Amino acid sequence: MLKDQIIAIEKAAKDAFEGATDPKGLYDLKVKYLGKQGDFSLLMREFGKLPPAEKPAMGQSINEAKNRLEEVYARVEKKLKHAETSAAIEKERLDLTLPGPERAAGARHPIAMVINEITQILARVGFSVRHGPMIETDRNNFTALNIPEDHPSRDLQDTFYIDDKHVLRTQTSPIQIRTLEIEKPPFRIIAPGAVFRCDSDISHSPNFYQIEGMLVDHKVSMADLRGTLLYFVQEFMGKDTKTRFRPSFFPFTEPSAEVDCSCPICKGKGCRMCKQSGWIEIGGSGLVNPKVLAHCGLDPEEWQGFAFGFGVERMAIIKYAIDDIRNFSENDLRFLRQF
Ligand code: DAH
Repeated sequence: MLKDQIIAIEKAAKDAFEGATDPKGLYDLKVKYLGKQGDFSLLMREFGKLPPAEKPAMGQSINEAKNRLEEVYARVEKKLKHAETSAAIEKERLDLTLPGPERAAGARHPIAMVINEITQILARVGFSVRHGPMIETDRNNFTALNIPEDHPSRDLQDTFYIDDKHVLRTQTSPIQIRTLEIEKPPFRIIAPGAVFRCDSDISHSPNFYQIEGMLVDHKVSMADLRGTLLYFVQEFMGKDTKTRFRPSFFPFTEPSAEVDCSCPICKGKGCRMCKQSGWIEIGGSGLVNPKVLAHCGLDPEEWQGFAFGFGVERMAIIKYAIDDIRNFSENDLRFLRQF
């Protein structure tokens, strides 16, 4: 009976649709049952053979069965597509809690750390920072600092000349001149920066760092200089550090002194760092030469000053017990990461 065949095919198709596991498989089943060559199309051949009186009722049964199957198909298809999308989303999901790729952080350079610390210590007693250019005039680097042309003291510093009138500054002292010419005393300044000398061996680098200090006021004496530097070294290297001043010569200071501090490593007993002397030289200093003040338009009867210049590498060597100055410029991360 055709009627039974319709029921059987509808049931088989419905079960098959509902058992499909993915949209592609489901579609293949639709072709199998409802397609042009499908089971229902085959039924239509039987249908053609029916007596005309039976056709309307049977035709309606076939159409209703097909419509119900279309509904089942649509429902199952929707369910399978949804499952497929959810699976794809689940698979592609970003795990926002995963840590990102690690980035190597740089380290602060010991030279920068020492400059920062010196600046902070001296800021507490009223010194503020000034800067000057690395390419200086011959005048600021030498002449105005009482180092006249053809004077033998120029030979003390092997100079990189840019042209007849310009040099790579050999010292931070020209910042004294720049400040004296622009600012009104009294003032207290420090000026850190790179300096250059045509000189290189195991203990000399053609590029190194200095920190300059200058105070200009009324009635300034060597006692003020000594007190300031004692305060400084004790803050920087420890309260038990002592200072020692040795007479020296610098064209821009009069009198001049070389400053030593007791070796912070061995506390003055003698070690490799201080070459068994118990003392370490940290820089030059003195009272600002009246000629320098006069050159910059100040009356030396009214104004006096003291100045000092330290080597920053030397400070870092002492502070961090570093034994080779070349470490500072090689930028070896194994060295730099220690600070
Ligand atoms: N500019 C000197 C040098 O490079 C160091 C120095 C000595 C600076 C005495 C000063 C000073 O300010 O008073 O060798």
